[in-house]
Amino acid sequence: MRIRILGAAAGGGLPQWNCRCPNCLLARPGVSARSGAGSVSPRTQSSLAVSGDGASWFLLNVSPDIRQQFAAFPALYGAGDSPRGSAIAGCLLTDAEIDHTTGLLLLREGTAIPIYSTALVRDWLDRYYPILPILSSFVPRTWHALTLGQPTALDARLEVTAFPLDAHPPRFVTETPNDLAESVVGLIIRDQQSGGTMVYAPGVAKVTPALESAVAGADAIFLDGTFWTEDEMIRRGLSDRYAADMGHMPVSGESGSLAWFSGLGAAHKVYVHINNTNPMLDTSRAEYAEVTRKGVRIGEDGDEFEV
Ligand code: MLT
Ligand code: MN
Ligand code: ZN
Repeated sequence: MRIRILGAAAGGGLPQWNCRCPNCLLARPGVSARSGAGSVSPRTQSSLAVSGDGASWFLLNVSPDIRQQFAAFPALYGAGDSPRGSAIAGCLLTDAEIDHTTGLLLLREGTAIPIYSTALVRDWLDRYYPILPILSSFVPRTWHALTLGQPTALDARLEVTAFPLDAHPPRFVTETPNDLAESVVGLIIRDQQSGGTMVYAPGVAKVTPALESAVAGADAIFLDGTFWTEDEMIRRGLSDRYAADMGHMPVSGESGSLAWFSGLGAAHKVYVHINNTNPMLDTSRAEYAEVTRKGVRIGEDGDEFEV
């Protein structure tokens, strides 16, 4: 299985259009070239692509930067003689958040790519952020349910299993169902041919037994690296919300994700969904050195892995 990071940033991307935090200023076009520093690489919004045969690809979340991500990875355009088509065989969603789903609207033209999500995410994408009815007015879509803990075949090689990560509806959802287990999930993808397994978990509020069992034996793990500290947004005057309010456990500290992640045995351990405020994005900083020294990669657009 080939795995490609299409976008390693969290919502907003890097640089974010209205953000003047140190990373965003350093990542603006032309700035790093002028200063010669180049310590913060721009990143597009959160999405991965996986493929068993290297020809057809599944998108794990579909970001608003999907056009740019196609251009950066032309394999996604696919080959073939028919007037319309691409290499995308399906779109898998981990939640209903804007940064993970908006790209679906940009794939509206004439090709009905199947969509995979939990039933709850589907319901929210019908009623609160009605991407699915809008898309279906262009071309009807096939939707496949991701049922927690139940493997679903994607093609002849790949199989996906969703597992619960957090009970955290998007901000635009104004109801609170009793059962939120399907609101934010992680994905385990197995390649039946190579035997390789990858885990994608971009929204981790805490390390739970479900996450522990998902990563056991995985060859590659792509983990939520949104924030360095719990109060990162507040301290910078950018928001009044803590990392926990947003459903993201911070990387640093005794109870942070790095202490746990760095101890896992997977061949590839990679942070993704990294918010532009996270100091570990700056390769000149101690935070960057600490993460990489502990054997964890700070994901970049274009990173590729094979398992
Ligand atoms: C998140 O990851 O917490 C969400 O994408 C936040 C948002 O986009 O507002
Ligand atoms: Mn997000
Ligand atoms: Zn910023």
